[in-house]
Amino acid sequence: MNSRQLQAVAQEHGTPVVVIDHDVIRANYADFRKHLPKVQAYYAVKANPAPEIIRALYQAGASFDVASLPEFMLVYENIKHLPAKEQQDFIWDKIVYANPIKPTETLRALDQYKPLVTYDNLEELRKIRQHAPHAGLMLRLRVPNTGSMVELSSKFGCDPGEAVDLLEEAFRVGLVVEGLSFHVGSQCTNFLNFVQAVSMAAAVIQEARGRGHEIKILDIGGGFPAPYNRHVKPFSLLAERINAEIDRLFPADMQILAEPGRFLVATAAVCVARIIGKAIRDGKTCYYVDDSIYNTYSGIIFDHCQYRVKAFKRGKTEICAVFGQTCDGLDAISQAEELPDLAIDDLVYSENIGAYSSASATWFNGFPPAKVVHVNERLRARAATARA
Ligand SMILES: Cc1ncc(COP(=O)(O)O)c(C=O)c1O
Repeated sequence: MNSRQLQAVAQEHGTPVVVIDHDVIRANYADFRKHLPKVQAYYAVKANPAPEIIRALYQAGASFDVASLPEFMLVYENIKHLPAKEQQDFIWDKIVYANPIKPTETLRALDQYKPLVTYDNLEELRKIRQHAPHAGLMLRLRVPNTGSMVELSSKFGCDPGEAVDLLEEAFRVGLVVEGLSFHVGSQCTNFLNFVQAVSMAAAVIQEARGRGHEIKILDIGGGFPAPYNRHVKPFSLLAERINAEIDRLFPADMQILAEPGRFLVATAAVCVARIIGKAIRDGKTCYYVDDSIYNTYSGIIFDHCQYRVKAFKRGKTEICAVFGQTCDGLDAISQAEELPDLAIDDLVYSENIGAYSSASATWFNGFPPAKVVHVNERLRARAATARA
């Protein structure tokens, strides 16, 4: 979206507002598929659970990674009209419940759908056996998350040394282990993490085969980085390395899945906020905007992500601070932004804010989350018009 369109949306809908461009979501999905053609992409709903995004990706043919029953139901909304058999096939082929720790009531609710679920420890295996014996299992491995913006390996994943025992135990108690999964950490710009993880998984699969267990699926997780800045190497280079490792280590009929979240949605959203206050503190201009780290900028805290704040106005710039509208001192969006001289009611914006942003917005201080506006939602109608 260009700046004129963004300002028009802010004019029409007010601020703060998040604009999500579905053309970008579809383009990101197509890019993922183009560069990783053997990999089935399960959109990680947690990155942005907007039903409109889920519908767009559903229509584009994506599969889904869910991490809670409500996320599962968001996807289910799109298939509930299908005949029972088709629903079941979709859940079987296109949904993975990739949270290795699940409440027992969630397992009980999921069991009827026979979903693919992950586990990484014996206690979880016991729970699955008792409450969701019809699920297909995937064992999550702990792999290096070195340098990733969000580290996940200290919370999830079994030690590679215990992996085959955990697989064997599942088979022993009558469950079916379909695959192995891992996550290299979110916004993984260190591509070696993927290379190492794939080869660690290959070693586990080989050892399992030696003990008589055939593993058919490898789930390479999320972590595919969004191009937040020029230091992020192109996705095509990462894809080349992953493809080479997969070809080198696995037979052609190995099913490869991935759970991209950020990569599909980060670049699809821009938020627009309004200057509501301005003060000079210690010689530095401080702007206050009608959004905050408790709302659209929540990724600063929860996602360790930094967003640039930009002005539509042109002019000589200086280093300024940008604060959110809440009364919390923690609510600092940036201590160093190059901004021109702005006035109350001027608009500012931040790009690439579609992942782990609105998803974790709160109502702190009584301020509601920003309005979300979806643009370019209707691909088919536009294409049909173009053809007519
Ligand atoms: C199990 C799992 N899969 C996928 C994702 C999505 O990761 P990303 O947004 O980095 O692609 C996450 C993120 O935390 C996750 O925990």
